[in-house]
Amino acid sequence: MFGRSSGRIDLPSVPAALARIIQITSDENATAEQVARVVMLDQSLATKVLRIANSAYYGRLRKAETVTEAVVSLGFSSVRNLAASASVIEALFPKQMFPGFSWQDMWTHSVTCALATEAIYARIVRGAASKMEAAFVAGLLHDVGKLIIARALPQKFVQIVDICREYGYEMTRAEKSVLSTDHAGIGAELAKEWDFPPKLRAGIAYHHNPSIADDHYDMAIAVQAANMLAKRLTRSYIVGSNTEISLRKVAEIARLPVSEIDYVVVRVREGLNRCSDILSWSREMPGADLVEAA
Ligand SMILES: [Fe+2]
Ligand SMILES: [Fe+2]
Repeated sequence: MFGRSSGRIDLPSVPAALARIIQITSDENATAEQVARVVMLDQSLATKVLRIANSAYYGRLRKAETVTEAVVSLGFSSVRNLAASASVIEALFPKQMFPGFSWQDMWTHSVTCALATEAIYARIVRGAASKMEAAFVAGLLHDVGKLIIARALPQKFVQIVDICREYGYEMTRAEKSVLSTDHAGIGAELAKEWDFPPKLRAGIAYHHNPSIADDHYDMAIAVQAANMLAKRLTRSYIVGSNTEISLRKVAEIARLPVSEIDYVVVRVREGLNRCSDILSWSREMPGADLVEAA
């Protein structure tokens, strides 16, 4: 009853900067120069990359004057992640306020999940660097379907959030009761429409149901486990809802020993410190405080 096939929802067209970033970062042979060139096509992206490269945290001896220097200074993967994050927040995150729902916390959840997906997937595939490209972006975009529902069907989104708050439902369950589909299904349609690479599509489509991910099972369980871990490590974006998730459960899903998940947690915390700038981009969005005061 819902989704592009039924004509109930209009899927937005892919933001140009995001499309280029995903394309270049999915190319195993991409170079730092190529990434810098993509970043430079978008002035606000380029400014962000330069600012972060020159921020106190990175404390380089010499100031990066150009985006290419910034790419060299930050490292290829940091710039890629930064660029993907900037274009996701600019192009996809709703600005509208919804009672009981915090977009600020949703952003923290997405970035945490991105870092966790990268760290978990690295442990699952064991150091094959060329396979890593999609992991951060898959984690960052795993819940993109929620953003689409909120933008396209705001009334239904309010209903879904109310159901979650009142009955303690998971969002997927509340979405199915209101829309007959869920954010993973809608995210999958979007990822197909936007022509995302197969591994990224699978991470979005199957993060609540990895058993049907076929060839991309590893990516699907990495995102699923990362999503759980992100929920454990950060505040819920549904105001007042709390889910107890153990590290043992995360380890079980990822099929890794708990000791490896302990290490993943350390990596994620380090990443969140490094990403404080990226996290602060949500400052302009409606947060829990604003929602409660409304
Ligand atoms: Fe989800
Ligand atoms: Fe999630």
